[in-house]
Amino acid sequence: MKTRETKPVIFLFTFPLQGHLNPNFQLANILFNRGFSITVIHTEFNSPNTSDFPHFTFVSIPDGLSESEANYTDVIDLLHVLNSKCVAPFGDCLKRLLSEEPTSACVIVDALWYFTYDLTEKFGIPRIINRTVNLSAFVAFSKFHVLREKGYLSLQESHADSPVPELPCLRMKDLPWFQTEDPRSGDKLQRGVMKSLKSSSGIVFNVIEDLETEQLKESLKAFPVPMFCIGPFHRRVAASSNSLLTQDMTCLSWLDKQEPRSVIYASLGSIASIDESEFLEIAWGLRNSEQPFLWVVRPGSIKGTEWIEILPKGFIESLEGKGKIVKWAPQIEVLAHRATGGFLTHCGWNSTIESICEAVPMICKPSFGDQRVNARYISDVWKIGLHLENKTERLVIENAVRTLLTSSQGEEIRKRIMPMKETAEKCLKLGGSSYRNLESLIAYILSF
Ligand code: UDX
Repeated sequence: MKTRETKPVIFLFTFPLQGHLNPNFQLANILFNRGFSITVIHTEFNSPNTSDFPHFTFVSIPDGLSESEANYTDVIDLLHVLNSKCVAPFGDCLKRLLSEEPTSACVIVDALWYFTYDLTEKFGIPRIINRTVNLSAFVAFSKFHVLREKGYLSLQESHADSPVPELPCLRMKDLPWFQTEDPRSGDKLQRGVMKSLKSSSGIVFNVIEDLETEQLKESLKAFPVPMFCIGPFHRRVAASSNSLLTQDMTCLSWLDKQEPRSVIYASLGSIASIDESEFLEIAWGLRNSEQPFLWVVRPGSIKGTEWIEILPKGFIESLEGKGKIVKWAPQIEVLAHRATGGFLTHCGWNSTIESICEAVPMICKPSFGDQRVNARYISDVWKIGLHLENKTERLVIENAVRTLLTSSQGEEIRKRIMPMKETAEKCLKLGGSSYRNLESLIAYILSF
C-alpha cells in the first residue's frame, strides 16, 4: 500500500460565506492530496459540516455574533463585525496550535480575514492568502485609491457607460464596488484587504494564468509578493459537499429528461438579492422564452418574501413541466449536464469558472463587487456571454435566452467558449501553467 507522504501541517482559516467556503475547502483538499496535514480553523457562524471532511482536523473559534448580526442585511457590515470579533479568539487559537505543532508550515487565510496580518506577524508564521476573485477584478480592486480620488465611485447615472481610463476594458458602471449603506464601510474593507495582501507571504488564485497573463503582470506590480495561479480548483479535486444549503438532487433527474443543450440554468449565487418586481420579470422572461429552465431561487433572496409565494396563481402549472424551481442545486453537476445550454448568472467568480470549465455560455446579471468586472469580461472581452446591462425586463430576458440557445449568434458564443474550456483542461496537465504553479507553491511552502 502506498504510504502518504508526510509534509508539515497547514492551518487554513476559512471565511464563512458559501462563495468562500467552496474555494477554501478545494484548496485545502488540493494541499492535502499533496501530502500536507490540514487543520481547518472556522467560525461557529456557518460552520462547515466536519463529517464531510474526515481527513482534516477542525478547530472552531467563537465568533460572538449576535442573532441580529448573524441575520445580516448588509454583507459588508458582517465582514467588519467578523473581522473585529474574531481577533482575540483567532489569536488564542493560533497561539495554542503553534505550541502544539511547532513545525507547522504556514497559515492560509481567506483574503476577507484582513485582520490576521498583525497576529501572524506577531507569532512569526508565514501567511498565504487565498484570494477568491479573478485577476481582472483583482487589478480593478488594486486601483481603488485612484478611482476613489478621481470621483469615479460616486458618478452620476449619465456616466455609467463611459469608459474607465485606468481600466480600459471596463465602463464606470462595472467598477467593483459594494452595496452597503455606508460607502466608508466599503472603503474600509478595501484598505484592510490591500494592507493584508501587501504584507502577505504570497497569494493563491483560483484562476488560469493563460487567460489573464497581462492582469498577472499588473497584479505583481501592485503587490510584489509571490502569486500562484493554480485554478480551476474544482477540477483538481473530487466534488465535496460544503454546501450550507441542501442541494436538490432532483435537478439531475429532471435534466435527464430534457434535450441536449436546451435548458437555461439560472442562479444568482449565495448573497445577491433582487426585489419582487425583478423576480417576476425574470419569471416571465424565462417562461416566455419557451426554453426549459432550471431556476435556483435561494430562500430569502427576494426582498420581503420567504420564497416564491409571490408568483401569480397558476404560473407553475402553466409551465407544464418545462420549468423547475429549486432552493439550491448541485451546480457543478448541473453545469456539466448535457442538457444545460446556458447559464443566467450573477457572475460570481466560482460560478464563472465553473461555467467556463463546462463550456456553458452565460447571460450576465451582476449585482456587486467583482461580479460586475467578471460580467464585462464575459460579454465584451472574452465574448462568451450576453450582458443584460441592468435591464431586468421580461422581454430582454426572453430575447437573451432565445439568442443564447437558439440563434447563430448563440452558436458563435458557444464556439468561443470551447477553447477556454480546453485551456482550463490543458493548464492542469503536466507542463501546463497551473500544474507548474502548484509545484512552485508546494516548494515555496516547504521552504518556510
Ligand atoms: C461571492 C462573489 O460573488 C464571488 O465573486 C467571490 O469570489 C466569492 O463571493 P457568490 O455570490 O456566492 O460569491 O457566488 P459564486 O462565487 O458564484 O459562488 C457560489 C458557489 O455556490 C459556487 O461554487 C456554486 O457552485 C455554488 N452553488 C450555487 C451551488 O452549489 N448551488 C447553487 O444552487 C448555487
